[in-house]
Amino acid sequence: MNIVVGVTGGIAAYKTVHLVRLLIKAGHDVTVIPTDDALRFVGAPTWEAISRNPVTTSVHDDVAKVRHVALGQAAELVIIAPATANTIAKMTAGLADDLLGTTLLATTAPVAIAPAMHTGMWRHPATQANIRVLRERGVHVLGPGDGELTGGDSGPGRMLEPEDIVESALALLAPQDLAGLRVVVSAGGTREPIDPVRFLGNRSSGKQGVALAAEAAARGAMVDLVAANIAADVLAGARHPHIRVHPVGTAAQLGEAMRDAAASATVVIMTAAVADYRPASASDQKLTKEDGALTSIDLVENEDIVAGLAASRPHGQIIVAFAAETLRDPEERRERARRKRERKGVDLLAVNLADADHGFEKPDNAVEIIGAEGAVVASAEGSKREVARVIWDAVRAARR
Ligand code: CTP
Repeated sequence: MNIVVGVTGGIAAYKTVHLVRLLIKAGHDVTVIPTDDALRFVGAPTWEAISRNPVTTSVHDDVAKVRHVALGQAAELVIIAPATANTIAKMTAGLADDLLGTTLLATTAPVAIAPAMHTGMWRHPATQANIRVLRERGVHVLGPGDGELTGGDSGPGRMLEPEDIVESALALLAPQDLAGLRVVVSAGGTREPIDPVRFLGNRSSGKQGVALAAEAAARGAMVDLVAANIAADVLAGARHPHIRVHPVGTAAQLGEAMRDAAASATVVIMTAAVADYRPASASDQKLTKEDGALTSIDLVENEDIVAGLAASRPHGQIIVAFAAETLRDPEERRERARRKRERKGVDLLAVNLADADHGFEKPDNAVEIIGAEGAVVASAEGSKREVARVIWDAVRAARR
């Protein structure tokens, strides 16, 4: 894809070098258009070497090729990172006193900006008014993040990380092939209380479920995300106008939330790691060694939520379950997954190896998807977002 990366004069420009690398590695043709100010932070040779395309700030270079409009017309996506308060103001006014300005006026491609500035400048009414205008015009504003800023202050104003910018910007071009679907995704891990300070839990971070929710929303679906004990920074990945989050704690709460949401859903995906057992009774007082009450815990079995949903599903609903297995032999793992799919009565079961490098708490995942008659209908390896993409493709195929 033809991507223009605009770089403006902020210290975060050094991070944009990595952003351009990510796009190049993913096979895109990138033209970097810095402002003069940006070149004081990172020089033209760096941008040229990393993008493998010529770099200029001026509308007076390469006039024969009408460069000041050609780049904008050829672009399929424009990303501005960092976007300073000054550039945001210039964009709002439609100023075109350099190559980035003319390109922005000439393009009809989606434009994503990643603001980066001091908190005070971000919060200033002038900047906020400009951002509102840009949003109304369809510009996608990514971030800013909240955190430490140059100069020792902290607050909103940090440029998002290059990986997050790339992911969100590329998602703008996602096909709307899930539009019209209502989907429910469960994510995270349940916690079964033992007493007010202890619980039985598991290591599921919720990342795969959040990635599935984000991918579905990017492709046009309306999403209910039932989130069991997911950390705020992970859940931030599900911020999208089409995603409604329902926080839950225990397996019983998760079951109830899933039954509510699934009643009107076209697709249900159950990535949550549900505790198979819970303490028979949770003490309302903290258990102590003095009481001798901590040496054994009586357990009772939790219901199988996904099997229950499958048994009473509305007509045509597709249900996907997950299984993290530690069996290293792929054929043994598949066999176990086939039995589990049958037992649960689900359409698809995504099975992954949970070892030191894959699965729980890790950014990457590798799954095989078992479908009708136990066939491996798809497999995916890579970031949890990439895995999510393949799972939604498999869901679409199963609906046909
Ligand atoms: N699941 C569920 N309710 C439970 C346990 C699991 O809905 N009480 C769902 C999980 O969300 C997942 C799938 O079932 O989608 C498989 O989970 P897993 O723990 O592998 O299944 P179990 O039936 O518990 O099998 P095992 O004995 O291998 O743990």
